[in-house]
Amino acid sequence: MIGADLVLNNCSQVLTMVGGGLGIVEHGTVRIRGGRVDEVAGHPLTPADGETEIDCHGKVVMPGFVDPHTHLVFGGWRQNEFEMRLAGRTYREIAEAGGGILSTVIHTRLATEDELYNRALERLHEMLLWGTTTVEVKSGYGLDTETELRMLRVARRLGELGFCRVVPTFLGAHSVPKRTPKADYVECLETEMIPAVAAAGLARFCDVFCEDFVFTAAESTRILEVGKRHGLVPTIHADEIESSGGAEVAASVGAASASHLLRPSDSGLQAMAQAGVAAVLLPGTCFFLREPHKSPVARMRELGIVMALASDFNPGSCPMLAQPLTAQFGCIHYGMTIEEALRGITVNAAKALQLDSEVGTLEPGKAADVVVTDVPDYRHIVYRLGHNPVWTTIYGGRVVHRQF
Ligand code: NIG
Ligand code: FE
Repeated sequence: MIGADLVLNNCSQVLTMVGGGLGIVEHGTVRIRGGRVDEVAGHPLTPADGETEIDCHGKVVMPGFVDPHTHLVFGGWRQNEFEMRLAGRTYREIAEAGGGILSTVIHTRLATEDELYNRALERLHEMLLWGTTTVEVKSGYGLDTETELRMLRVARRLGELGFCRVVPTFLGAHSVPKRTPKADYVECLETEMIPAVAAAGLARFCDVFCEDFVFTAAESTRILEVGKRHGLVPTIHADEIESSGGAEVAASVGAASASHLLRPSDSGLQAMAQAGVAAVLLPGTCFFLREPHKSPVARMRELGIVMALASDFNPGSCPMLAQPLTAQFGCIHYGMTIEEALRGITVNAAKALQLDSEVGTLEPGKAADVVVTDVPDYRHIVYRLGHNPVWTTIYGGRVVHRQF
């Protein structure tokens, strides 16, 4: 690995993401010292003694990608369900027939911590190749205290490796375990699981799958409020499959973000805008599930809602972990602009994770999480469908992946 002091010279464009747009610096240079961005200049800089120069001729350089919604840790895959869905079954039908989340729960419970860790590590490595330097990781395939804690310990170990920032989220309220009355499980979440997760310091956020047929708006509110009392910041899976009042819950509990939002009510969106809740849009999931509904991006834009983009990587509804592809789906499938999509996978994703003072832009003092692409113009990142533009990934000033 190359050490902490770097000069990325001759970049065709540096996208700083500063100032509300892309913050483009043509023919820019980024200097990294002590793992932090030291300077972004509009001309080449001479490397000082001990600094390593990387020639970025013909390359766009931008902040490392932030993926603010993933289910990275799980046992097993669900390719059978994909096939069923192609044959016309819906996500909900498959879930009600014993597939879906609960089938992954079975495989996750059976896996040891090391098995979960090794599988997740392979996926994290793949993310790095696609430029992700900060990833949110949810639990939620354990649905019992022991397995939820195991998943979160895996997330912590992945972060400790030091090649990607891992932000852990407790999603015990992802589904109701088999043969457990929902009221009993909600009580277990509130009195046992949330306190245990918080006491172990294993999560920053608390998430709920809010749908009328999973956790209702009222149940979600209760769970998120308990999470808050234990120091966990609320976030929510909202209004994906049905309009269930998820956006309203997000606003009322003061969530950092609300994800999915395929079918939010307009008053829910207005409440989110008012409360400053970021929207985490998951166009890859919408596309993969062949959902007829898309998130109302134009309305969110009008309301000034911060729009972040996440992969939602998981074995059921989106086995895709590449943030450049998420940006492509954001533009092509959701109708976002290129600027919105690129902000969506960087600065706005950092905002959704409340990490924007540390990552998501290239400016002095921020963590030196940087992606060097192999394309000369930022539009290529979205335009070249399926192309992996990542040439080098730098995390905290260290080159953690390079193609040359
Ligand atoms: O974000 N919506 C709920 N959770 C996941 C799906 C997880 C699964 O199917 O295993 C999601 O899409
Ligand atoms: Fe999810």
